[in-house]
Amino acid sequence: MSEKYVEKVLLDQAAIKEKVAELGRQISEDYQDKELLMICVLKGAVIFLADLMREISIPVSIDFMAVSSYGASTESSGVVRILKDLDCSIENRHCLIVEDIIDSGLTLKYLEENLMSRQPASLKIVTLLDKPERRRVDIKPDYCGFRIPDEFVVGYGLDFDENYRHLPEICVLADK
Ligand code: XMP
Ligand code: MG
Repeated sequence: MSEKYVEKVLLDQAAIKEKVAELGRQISEDYQDKELLMICVLKGAVIFLADLMREISIPVSIDFMAVSSYGASTESSGVVRILKDLDCSIENRHCLIVEDIIDSGLTLKYLEENLMSRQPASLKIVTLLDKPERRRVDIKPDYCGFRIPDEFVVGYGLDFDENYRHLPEICVLADK
């Protein structure tokens, strides 16, 4: 495998903060008369969840799911496996999937179908990042922070082979 390095900052801390606040306001308004359960997709979305839930002005609950992802590669295998399921039942609950990034859409398509079969009252998707050019299945987020070009990004929870998650910005990773 080739070596990688952080080529540039794509989204800085101020831009992310402003966008997360905007998403929080919108979600608070849309769910003001509902009880919201935020379902965080581990591990990439944890930082986004932590920041987003603090920008939401209505009571929320959280739960976590882990699904198999890219491993050490930057390409989706198309194979999705549940590594950790939710702790709670979502039947008749208003659920919002919290994702870091939608790329091919394969992970989210699987998750959406899996969660819908559990009969939630509603199911929506918020993603911080979207790479629409890369889509292989028809899926659209209900809330999206930024549309980004087809480049591999890390930071703010996103990793390459478990590295770079701690970076406070979203950066482009390139080959050395
Ligand atoms: P799919 O292709 O199923 O992928 O939509 C979703 C998951 O793949 C990971 N992913 C990335 N991770 N930088 C990353 O660090 C990227 O540019 C990237 N693109 C996809 C991510 O875990 C996401 O949940
Ligand atoms: Mg990942």
